[in-house]
Amino acid sequence: MEVVSAVSVTPPERLSSGITELDRVLGGGLVPGGVALIGGQPGIGKSTLLLQAGGLVASTGTPVLYMSGEESSAQVALRAKRLGVASENLLLYCGSDLEDALLALKTGLNTDSKTDAKNIGLFILDSVQAVRAPGETGWPGTPNQVRAVAQLAVDAARAAQIPAVLVGHITKDGRLAGPMLLEHMVDTVLTFSGEGYSSYRMLRAVKNRYGNTDELGVFEMREDGLAAVEDKSGLYWNRSDVAVPGVAMTIALEGSTPLVAEVQTLATPTAFPYPKRTSRGIELNRFQLLAAVLEKRAGILCSAHDLYLNIAGGLSIQDPSADLASCVSLASALRDRPLRGDCCYLGEVGLAGEVRPVTRLGSRLKEAERLGLRCAVVSAGERGVSAPGGIKIERVDNLGEALKKGGL
Ligand SMILES: Nc1ncnc2c1ncn2[C@@H]1O[C@H](COP(=O)(O)OP(=O)(O)O)[C@@H](O)[C@H]1O
Ligand SMILES: [Mg+2]
Repeated sequence: MEVVSAVSVTPPERLSSGITELDRVLGGGLVPGGVALIGGQPGIGKSTLLLQAGGLVASTGTPVLYMSGEESSAQVALRAKRLGVASENLLLYCGSDLEDALLALKTGLNTDSKTDAKNIGLFILDSVQAVRAPGETGWPGTPNQVRAVAQLAVDAARAAQIPAVLVGHITKDGRLAGPMLLEHMVDTVLTFSGEGYSSYRMLRAVKNRYGNTDELGVFEMREDGLAAVEDKSGLYWNRSDVAVPGVAMTIALEGSTPLVAEVQTLATPTAFPYPKRTSRGIELNRFQLLAAVLEKRAGILCSAHDLYLNIAGGLSIQDPSADLASCVSLASALRDRPLRGDCCYLGEVGLAGEVRPVTRLGSRLKEAERLGLRCAVVSAGERGVSAPGGIKIERVDNLGEALKKGGL
């Protein structure tokens, strides 16, 4: 047993992955002896990201062992060449026998007889579903195998005090395939995701023993690999100069990152007994509720129209701060009158049509100012908000007032 105050608490020394966005999501870089698991759907770019990171670490002189149970060395080497990261410190092991690879972590790796064994400084395992643990029965990818593979990798990384990154496949419902335990065995769990049609990829931490889980990394998949998107604000915003009815701006939070989002609504007279409602980026039930509140509390008739709502760029907004923008965009579409383009709407809308405060208004307003917006319609209930210089704050109690401020 130990006394808490006597335990050494020096923060772990970190190894940069060579990719700033990845380091940030990891909480400042890779931790020696720490194991990160990165999950994502097939084809999303996990192998690309890790080979790129491995190659960059190797280029600083630290030997990196990249084990692939899925691809041949020729395939991996070809990709390394395309990404421009092939180097003599990037060592490949393509096969499904984990024992050999883990032995190399312990003893170092001899690449030719003339030079000394290289001490591995980073281990990448692609993927936990594709390799076989010695002494465990069953095909690779079965729960027992996956658990044994992950445990062996975790033990080896801890013993050798080097960072390890494991790739894990994700099932259709978004869970890591294999035993649930997997997420508990490792120190950090990252998810890599993206819409099929878009070349943007998002990296988030869902668990991190060495940092917070608020960071978001955004990448663009290019011919020469994944490129970090540093200015994330343009992603979901068309910045069009022409004002179109049905378009309203809001600032959503993705973790702790404020992102400007454009809510678009289209309203067309319905030809059916039941008007149609579809939404993308906001939950359909929420959208239907907001339409009902708008009709009942602000007197804007929705029931004779088919309504389509979309968050531009494929962003999915979970927090209710986009309620107000959704209602205003809906009213703008139904009235066929555009809103002013330099204003954003930040508020949760209640069943009584009241506009409520949102979390972290300050950082949202700062982002709005940075993007050149000039006005923000917020709840009158927001307290202690000091608006950044360029932004005029309009406080409203309810939907009706918000529509008035929007000129509807
Ligand atoms: N020659 C290429 N040029 C550009 N992009 C490519 C090329 N080859 C593969 N890609 C992209 O890389 C993706 C595959 O990434 P990969 O890292 O293998 O994914 P994962 O490991 O998550 O299954 C493909 O979906 C494709 O978009
Ligand atoms: Mg892969």
